[in-house]
Amino acid sequence: MRVGVLAGLAAIVVMALAMPVRAEGDLERGNYLLNSIVACGNCHTPKGPDGKAIAGQALAGGTVIEVPVFRAVAPNITPDKETGIGAWTDAQIALAIREGKRPDGSIIGPPMPVEFYRSMSDNDLRAIVAALRKVPPVVNKVGKSTYKIPLPPAYGPPVGRVADVGRGNPVAYGGYLADIGHCMECHTPVIDKGRLDMTRVGGGGRELPVFPAGTVISANLTPGNPAGFAHWTNAQFKETMRTGIRPDGRALVRTMAFDWYKNIKDGDMNALIAYLRTLKPVKN
Ligand code: HEC
Ligand code: HEC
Repeated sequence: MRVGVLAGLAAIVVMALAMPVRAEGDLERGNYLLNSIVACGNCHTPKGPDGKAIAGQALAGGTVIEVPVFRAVAPNITPDKETGIGAWTDAQIALAIREGKRPDGSIIGPPMPVEFYRSMSDNDLRAIVAALRKVPPVVNKVGKSTYKIPLPPAYGPPVGRVADVGRGNPVAYGGYLADIGHCMECHTPVIDKGRLDMTRVGGGGRELPVFPAGTVISANLTPGNPAGFAHWTNAQFKETMRTGIRPDGRALVRTMAFDWYKNIKDGDMNALIAYLRTLKPVKN
C-alpha cells in the first residue's frame, strides 16, 4: 500500500517534469521570432520569380544561393519525416541551429548563419524548435549543396547554456536581436576567405545574391554613410524595415527580409534602433 502511494506520487512528479514548462508561451514566442526578426524563411522558404515567398511552402527549402565559392541549397526544414527534419529530435534540431551540426555529425555550411545563432538564448532556441514542429509538413526533396571552400570542423566549442538578454537595457537587447536576426552577417564587409571584418561592423559593402538572379551591395548602416539609416528618423527606419521602401522612395531588393521584418513589434524595433545607433562610423 505504502509502496503503491509512493509509486503513484513518483509517477505524478515524473509527469510534471516531463511536461514542457512554457509550452504555449514557447510556441507564441517561437512563431513570432520565425515570422519576424529571425526570418529563417528568407532562405528556407522557396520564392517565386518575383522574389516573394510561395504560399503554402513555408520552410520547404529548395532555394539555391550561389556565390563564387559555393552553391548552397536551402534544405526542407518542415516536419516532413522523409524530406524534412520531422525525424530529428528537438535536441538535434537545436544543435543544428546553434552549433551547425546535423544528427549524422556533418557540419552545416554557409550561408546558414550559425556564428550568429550561437548567441541565441536557450529559451528562444527552445521556442523556435517548438514553432518549427508546428509548421505544416511539406513533401519536397531538395538537392545537396556544393562547397569549393573547406567547412570548419566546428563553429566553436560547445555552446553550453545561454541566458536570456533582459529588455531593461535596450542597446543590449537590440544587439541580441541583431544577432539572432544576423543583420551584421550581411551588413559587415568581408576580408580574406569571406571572414567578416568586425572592426568595420555595419559598414556594408558586401556583394550578396538576389533571388532569382543578380547581385546587390549591402547598405552601410553606420554614420559613415551620409545618406544612410544613421541619418534617418526612427519612424523612417521602421517604415523602411516594414515596407522595403526607403525614405527617398527607392525600393529594397528582397535579400532584405522586409516581408518578415514587417512583423517586428514596435518595442523590438526601438531596441534594434537603440543598438544600431551605437555603430561606429565606417567609410567605404
Ligand atoms: C542566410 C540563409 C539561411 C538562414 C537565414 C537560415 N538558414 Fe538554415 N540553412 C541554410 C542553408 C544554405 C543550409 C544548408 C547548408 C549545407 O548544405 O551545408 C541550411 C541548413 C539548415 C539545417 C540543416 C537541415 C538539413 O537537412 O541538413 C537546419 C535544421 C536549418 N538550416 C535550420 C534553420 C533555422 C531554424 C533557421 C532560422 C533560425 C535557419 N536555418 C536560417 C541557409 C539559411
Ligand atoms: C541576407 C542579408 C541581409 C540581412 C540578414 C539583413 N540585411 Fe539589411 N540590407 C541587405 C541588403 C542587400 C540591403 C540593400 C538592399 C538594396 O539596395 O536594395 C539592405 C538594406 C538595409 C537597410 C537600408 C539602408 C540604406 O541606407 O538604404 C536597412 C536600414 C537595413 N538593411 C537594416 C537591416 C537590419 C536592422 C537587419 C537585421 C534585422 C538587416 N538589415 C538584415 C541585406 C541584409
